[in-house]
Amino acid sequence: MKIERPRGTRDFLPDEMERRRAIEAVMRRIAESYGYREIATPTFEHLELFTIKSGEGIIEEMYAFKDKGGRDLALRPELTAPVVRLFVNECSVMPKPLRFYYFANCFRYERPQKGRYREFWQFGVELIGSSSYLADAEVITLAYRIMEELKLDFELHIGHVGLLRHLLRDVEEEKAAIVMRLIDKKDVEGLIKHLEEIKAPQDLSEAILSLIELSGGRDVLKDASELTGFDIGHMEKLCDVLDSMGVEYTIDLGIARGLDYYTGVVFEAYAEGLGAQNQICGGGSYRLAHLFGGEDVPSTGFALGFDRIVEICKLTPEEKTVVVVANVGLENEAFKLADLLRRHGICAITDVMERSLKRQLSFANDVNARFAVIIGKKEIESGRYTVKDMASGESLQLEFDSLLEYLSSNIKYKKS
Ligand code: HAM
Repeated sequence: MKIERPRGTRDFLPDEMERRRAIEAVMRRIAESYGYREIATPTFEHLELFTIKSGEGIIEEMYAFKDKGGRDLALRPELTAPVVRLFVNECSVMPKPLRFYYFANCFRYERPQKGRYREFWQFGVELIGSSSYLADAEVITLAYRIMEELKLDFELHIGHVGLLRHLLRDVEEEKAAIVMRLIDKKDVEGLIKHLEEIKAPQDLSEAILSLIELSGGRDVLKDASELTGFDIGHMEKLCDVLDSMGVEYTIDLGIARGLDYYTGVVFEAYAEGLGAQNQICGGGSYRLAHLFGGEDVPSTGFALGFDRIVEICKLTPEEKTVVVVANVGLENEAFKLADLLRRHGICAITDVMERSLKRQLSFANDVNARFAVIIGKKEIESGRYTVKDMASGESLQLEFDSLLEYLSSNIKYKKS
């Protein structure tokens, strides 16, 4: 019986993995250049961690299960809650702000389609300990620089859930959460129906429906302030920094985010070429630590949808140059030479199938080897290896030091 992989999961072959790793390397490099350091959390957590504040949408999609000890656990659907739990457990006394980044797989029981998987990867950062507009400016710029460096065709939208929450301040929490979810889904019809059902006053409904339509340059902030009475000073200062950094964005007060923990600035990036699942980044400022037994610490962060980015990113990894060390009845010598070459940063492959020289060279062709080094009796006696350029077919006889120099000057893959 052939066993298929579970729905919504993927296998990655070497070419794809090399592309993924090259993209991941750019993300890590830029995050590290901002002083962010990598952390890792468990793949599964207590279910409660995600039910406290992540919101209905996430709860419905959770891979939740009981372990043999009867504990309620869940595969992580995202990493913000785990990172904050880690912060409360391990680092609450460390000097703030803390700058963490992660690259990890997440699990959501969603209907699979292009760009939407049940297992997917997020690259994210969390900046813990500041409620300043500067913290928002830093993480937004960081996300922007990554997407820019990857040459993605994207649009960044920035909003502030504080305005919507301010309007909804007298609405019961559960009902307000449904309002936020409908706005997040851009389900205006459903929103109007829900506002009617919860008997929202006419002026409140009108204000919400007008607010979520506000989108454009930073001048829409004034309209938003007039509409809601909310102080937009934080957003103005944030825009000043972003403008001075050359970050391009659209103010969009219809961003509600699918997760319930956001309290202030929120942002999303959308890209071309992905169809309906075009959101490649989501983030914002939030408060979670006090819900997990810590002090009330403001934080901000984002997660990039790694798989969606891989789908549209044109970056190609550097080709690795492979050298095949072929032999004629001298397997040990081939193993020894390959070992030496590898210690000098050269990717060397030797025969493990006990094949003839002809078949070893034919395999070198199959794996696109750039060179084949041949070891036979003649080579051992003369102390000179035969190196064959697989593209031109030309051969040279070289002593070890010259061979090393020749290969090193012709290969792209070197020991870092
Ligand atoms: P999120 O918007 O739920 O935010 O997820 C972040 C990104 O993960 C999305 O923008 C999307 O690109 C990608 N994503 C989500 N679901 C899937 C899926 N089923 N398949 C493929 N990609 C997917 C968060 O998770 C927050 N924790 C972000 C954050 C960090 N906020 C503050 N800090």
